Amino acid sequence: MTATESADATAIEDVLKARFGETIAVDPSLQGLETLKHMASRRVCRRYLDKPVDPKLLRLLLACALSSPSKSDLQQGDVVIVQDAAKRKAIMDLIPSMPWMKEAPIFLVFCGDAQRLPRISALRGKPYPNDHLDAFFNSTVDGAIVMTSFIAAAEAVGLGCCQISVVRDNCDVLRDTLALPKRVVPIAGLCVGWPAGPGRLSARLAIDARVHVDTYEAGKLEAQLDEYDRRRNAAEPGLRQRDTARWGEAPFYGWSEDKARQYATPQRTDFGAFVRAQGFKLE
Ligand SMILES: Cc1cc2nc3c(=O)[nH]c(=O)nc-3n(C[C@H](O)[C@H](O)[C@H](O)COP(=O)(O)O)c2cc1C
Repeated sequence: MTATESADATAIEDVLKARFGETIAVDPSLQGLETLKHMASRRVCRRYLDKPVDPKLLRLLLACALSSPSKSDLQQGDVVIVQDAAKRKAIMDLIPSMPWMKEAPIFLVFCGDAQRLPRISALRGKPYPNDHLDAFFNSTVDGAIVMTSFIAAAEAVGLGCCQISVVRDNCDVLRDTLALPKRVVPIAGLCVGWPAGPGRLSARLAIDARVHVDTYEAGKLEAQLDEYDRRRNAAEPGLRQRDTARWGEAPFYGWSEDKARQYATPQRTDFGAFVRAQGFKLE
């Protein structure tokens, strides 16, 4: 065992303890510790250096992302590189609250693509009796897997990323700007660039709140939230309270209060109509 492997093992243990509040022993002789260290310590990046990303590197990362698993080998996750300045502006002007979209040297939009498969069926003279909710679900899941894989690849080479689901607040603009055809649905945008700082590690719900053995355990939510809210507040005190005009100042403001307030306001209630208008049948 080398000093690096031992240091990686300790670093993973430390970061997971900070993330989950649990000590998870890491065997320093395991292979792949550097990869695990990257995964365990990953964080969203919203500040970028004024430094371009080589197009050849982007191509490599996209190739790695598109090597990810795909439902029935259907390959239904697609990516749009938004490099035209006017197109980027059209999308970003709608979201002034997220200036990191403008600062990132690369902006991508990950999509679920369910248009290729029925066209293949038609080209090969076959029926396509599968035009239902599963077509939407399969393509969206594939697109999300491609996005996640892209992020892992980008972070492995030292890039930072920030997904932008808020682009879906303006799906019509996105569709028109990028000429998204019927049966293609945007999942999220992605800012990519060289990080201008380390960012901060977000604590997560306890592992046992999200990992179930044999039976889905949903009955312990209150205790799990209480534990998480306190642990997260201790690590990151002073979370800015959301929508105080409506909800007032809470004496204790934790993650669960924040998420409850966030989702007390309607969001993207027209998304279903957009997806249907894109030609998806959701039955
Ligand atoms: C599907 C998806 C959509 C997201 N959309 C946005 C967004 O619109 N704007 C933003 O600033 N961050 C966005 N994020 C980043 C999350 O806010 C971030 O991952 C979360 O706060 C946890 O932080 P961490 O990634 O550092 O653990 C998104 C993340 C995901 C996975």
